Amino acid sequence: MKRMLSGIKPTGQLHLGNYIGALRHFVEYQDEYEMFAFIANLHCITVPQDPKELQKNLRDCVALYLACGLDPAKANIFLQTDVRAHAQLGYIMCCHTYMGELNRMTQFKDKMAKGETNLSGGLYTYPSLMAADILLYDPDYVPVGEDQKQHVELTRDLAIRMNNRYGTLFKVPEPLVAKVGARIMSLSDPSRKMSKSDETNKGCIYLLDDLKAARKKVMSAVTDNCARVHFDPVSQPGISNLMQIMSSLSDDRPMGDIEAEFEGKGYGDFKRSVADCVCGTLEKIQTRYQEVLDSGEIDAALESGAARASVIADEKLAAVQKAIGMEIILK
Ligand code: TYM
Repeated sequence: MKRMLSGIKPTGQLHLGNYIGALRHFVEYQDEYEMFAFIANLHCITVPQDPKELQKNLRDCVALYLACGLDPAKANIFLQTDVRAHAQLGYIMCCHTYMGELNRMTQFKDKMAKGETNLSGGLYTYPSLMAADILLYDPDYVPVGEDQKQHVELTRDLAIRMNNRYGTLFKVPEPLVAKVGARIMSLSDPSRKMSKSDETNKGCIYLLDDLKAARKKVMSAVTDNCARVHFDPVSQPGISNLMQIMSSLSDDRPMGDIEAEFEGKGYGDFKRSVADCVCGTLEKIQTRYQEVLDSGEIDAALESGAARASVIADEKLAAVQKAIGMEIILK
């Protein structure tokens, strides 16, 4: 069975972009692949966090993994800090990453370009830790949204570099980026990615949004004056984004099909249908989320997930340390 690994960093509440670009694929693949889905809490603290809020977001993230359909009997769900090898291999990977490579990472560059001050060292070296997250498990594939592809590509470079230097240590993983829905855009500004750091709160639909509020966000999404539902992300970015959302939430319905249904109809009709799709999905997730939240399912999933993940990760870390010459072999 081929292996897959991915993670989410709940620095805020999970949103529809996380679901469409990543989480729904974890669920889809759990039957076919050996799945490792973790919560990247070390990555969360690369930017300042309120401890109480972070704790809530972490628990919500696990609850949402389960509510979206990840099954702990099939997928290994765990908290990054429960498997200590992540931080340890993260440091080793950091020592094998060039500063030039980190300088080229767009997420860091974007923050610098915005003039944000007091960025942490952890934020800068974040891609090295992400490489460790992945390489510890020798996955074949890493399902991610478009924005994380560059990090997985750096991971491949680091794996190849270390394999050349020390002998084969790591499988070189491939990013798995879906054709539709890998970059869901903000509803209020379709030139920007839907993201947790949406200051207006109008462009981002959270998985735990009240259904009325979610519907309102879709109905007031920015569109254009072309007056036709047509898939063309360059000249009709707002409409194309809504089409991607609709397609992803309805079994990857073809764009041509959606165009045909709304031919000659107004944007109001189209938006109402998109809102129905979004609210139908959120309602299912939220109902299950409420069941999961106060059950013992979260703790049980994390415990068994971390136990299984630790066995693999500890073995890999030991092999790496030995290959590098970091261990003293007892006589
Ligand atoms: P994060 O938490 O920013 O995002 C989690 C996943 O959601 C995807 N995503 C999107 N997809 C489509 N449209 C959007 N608007 C959108 N926003 C986010 C992301 O591409 C991602 O797949 N560094 C990672 C977490 C991580 C990780 C890893 C992932 C840490 N270690 C190892 C894979 C493997 C991150 O911050 O994702």
